Amino acid sequence: MRTGDEHTYFGFKPVPLADKQGLVDGVFASVARRYDLMNDLMSAGLHRAWKDALVTTINPPRGNRPFALLDVAGGTGDIAFRVVDAGGAETRATVVDINAEMLKAGRERAAVSSCSDRVIFVEGNAEALPFPDRSFDAVSIAFGIRNVPRIQEALNEAHRVLKIGGRFACLEFSSMDVPGLDRLYELYSFNVIPALGRVVTGDAEAYRYLVESIRRFPKPRTFADMIETSGFRRVSFQIMTGGIVALHSGWRL
Ligand SMILES: C[S@@+](CC[C@H](N)C(=O)[O-])C[C@H]1O[C@@H](n2cnc3c(N)ncnc32)[C@H](O)[C@@H]1O
Repeated sequence: MRTGDEHTYFGFKPVPLADKQGLVDGVFASVARRYDLMNDLMSAGLHRAWKDALVTTINPPRGNRPFALLDVAGGTGDIAFRVVDAGGAETRATVVDINAEMLKAGRERAAVSSCSDRVIFVEGNAEALPFPDRSFDAVSIAFGIRNVPRIQEALNEAHRVLKIGGRFACLEFSSMDVPGLDRLYELYSFNVIPALGRVVTGDAEAYRYLVESIRRFPKPRTFADMIETSGFRRVSFQIMTGGIVALHSGWRL
């Protein structure tokens, strides 16, 4: 790496900031086809409960009030489908993701879903969202923000596209803080997950990156401060499953 280059980390590896997105894109292009299956296997289905908590925070209206969600780094559309299912007939979701392979897997899911007409997939970067100011009632991002090279830019963009009174919710892995279990979780993360990744997707390195990137992500209090820096108000967070996951939220007021 040249001195003077702005740098960041790709997992534990220091890389020029300008190179990170390409490396991240390689990871998700490689695992896209088996991504949903791997989520179930490596979290023993727990990601469903974490995502349900996110949907409860987003709280789409059950009646016929129009409601527009933007799910950033939405990948295969898991959050979008859940929000549309939970909401009324006028709840719609836009999935934006930078990775064409993840979006392709999402569109294939939509083709066999009953609510496909209410979910759309758009290729775009969380750091420069291709949407006008104040165009969504809610913005979510699940297990996506730690992959974005310039996190503060992505938070600024989430704030920009939200309507006044709209809610932002972000689900992300955090650090297990239960003494005794933390060591076990560490062993599981660094040994079992990459091995499972190798068997299911043929790519252990992709899952090693995912585990390392979790360790490098800011602690919940620090991340809450970053959300506030982007202009969100009433920022709060909730720790789930002994610290494995944190759910942050804030409002555009
Ligand atoms: C771990 S997946 C999460 C997918 C989905 N939100 C879920 O919970 O199942 C992370 C996603 O972030 C996307 N991503 C990474 N960098 C991005 C960026 N700069 N802008 C938009 N999406 C990005 C990846 O392509 C990938 O689909």
